[in-house]
Amino acid sequence: MEKILVLDFGGQYNQLIARRVRENHVYSEVRPYTTPLEEIKAAGYKGIILTGGPHSVYKETAYTYDKALFQLGIPVLGICYGAQLMTHLLGGQVEPGAREYGEVAVSLDTQSQLFSGLDYGTICWMSHTDYISRIPAGFKITAKSETCPVAAMENPTARLYAVQFHPEVMHTRKGMEMLHTFVYDICGCKGDWVMSSFVDRTIYQLKEKIGDRKVLCALSGGVDSSVAAILLHKAVGDNLTCIFVDHGLLRKDEGKQVEELFRGQYDINLVSVDASARFFEKLKGVTEPEKKRNILGEEFIRVFEAEAKKIGKVDFLVQGTIYPDVIESGVGDAALIKSHHNVGGLPDHVDFEEIVEPLRDLFKDEVRQAGLELKMPESMVYRQPFPGPGLGVRIIGEVTPEKVALLQEADAIFRQEVAKAGLDREISQYFAVLTDMRSVGVMGDGRTYDYTVALRAVTTSDFMTADWAKIPHEVLGNASNRIVNEVEHVNRVVYDITQKPPATIEWE
Ligand code: XMP
Repeated sequence: MEKILVLDFGGQYNQLIARRVRENHVYSEVRPYTTPLEEIKAAGYKGIILTGGPHSVYKETAYTYDKALFQLGIPVLGICYGAQLMTHLLGGQVEPGAREYGEVAVSLDTQSQLFSGLDYGTICWMSHTDYISRIPAGFKITAKSETCPVAAMENPTARLYAVQFHPEVMHTRKGMEMLHTFVYDICGCKGDWVMSSFVDRTIYQLKEKIGDRKVLCALSGGVDSSVAAILLHKAVGDNLTCIFVDHGLLRKDEGKQVEELFRGQYDINLVSVDASARFFEKLKGVTEPEKKRNILGEEFIRVFEAEAKKIGKVDFLVQGTIYPDVIESGVGDAALIKSHHNVGGLPDHVDFEEIVEPLRDLFKDEVRQAGLELKMPESMVYRQPFPGPGLGVRIIGEVTPEKVALLQEADAIFRQEVAKAGLDREISQYFAVLTDMRSVGVMGDGRTYDYTVALRAVTTSDFMTADWAKIPHEVLGNASNRIVNEVEHVNRVVYDITQKPPATIEWE
């Protein structure tokens, strides 16, 4: 299989680069800049992309690489820091002082290999302070901006290419074309990768790695852990046991559905535990969001551990971690936004040797594609994401069984109305939130003093940024009428019209 290596120097968009290459039907993987040259040589890559990164190449502490990388005869594309590193290692010069950020007008040399077929003027996304002030011998400058004398350069004889801007970001208007040219025309790929290759390869690798040893999976019923579990089931069959912890904070009827699907349809070993009483006890009086999240994460692990102990020693623990979870939980250099419940919080007392995270490099829509490949029912594949801490982060203030019951009803009504309007596939995530606010209303002839439910619906492709969904007023009106009429103790419904950022999708 053709492969492109994305060599990671700590930039923000590394997985995005790999994903853009995969969108071109060429398999791509991200590996750290510490990967030995020998391994890169042996892996048979058709091309190498050097990513951006927060460092300055001329500083002693900068991430660097063996310059023999450029003599392998494999085409290399340096992006941002990667471009500067290529310059620095090959005898050119990088200096501070030409800051550019955002969309910048760039003129391209249309005779260059990388920009062949493109127009002279375009817009590219820049994010740098250092700039290439002198190119290495053998290179020619192939793009410029007003601030940046070397917005791109190349040495076609040596098969080396560099761009100061970020072609992987949508704001670079012709970025996809540039990556396509690199992968196909320069690296000579034919495009042999589809999602089925990921599925087959992952099942094969899991089989190789796990053999007939025992695997344990924490199943949430969401797309991620379900796809992970089914991949594992395909690889090791009955050696996989799934534990489904019902913390009492699931959506209406969700627990039942998960059991039917996994036990019924897939015949997967499933241990299902109703731990709601225990969770509610721990959540009594707790109102602070991170504290709630921590309690939920911690308690989940304790229940999971107790069940796992009954099973005895297992060799592997499966997690359905996907790429956005990894960055949003502040692994590596990214800032902590929320403690995601399925990353980082690992059971200390479960007897296992290793973690397997088969979806760690994928974005959500890629996970869904994998689910379709695995012949999962569409209702499951397109099920909207549901956070590990469940309704616990959708009830502002203290979580009680009564509030959960109320929110389950309101949420079910909103979901029904969205589906009835045929919007369920268009909107990425939509749910109800129980605010901690009560207000005055009038019902019949009497005064009410009851809760406000907020409706939240967003469209997004990667859940890292999101826009509020422009749901027709009529649909919102129907949902609102039904909620105030059918759900006791709710007398007001509001719609959340904030984007992410600055808001997050969940309210806590
Ligand atoms: P936010 O609220 O951070 O949510 O904009 C982004 C996406 O992540 C989901 N989410 C979680 N998923 N465990 C999960 O598995 C969590 O702790 C968690 N918190 C948020 C959220 O529903 C949205 O899809």
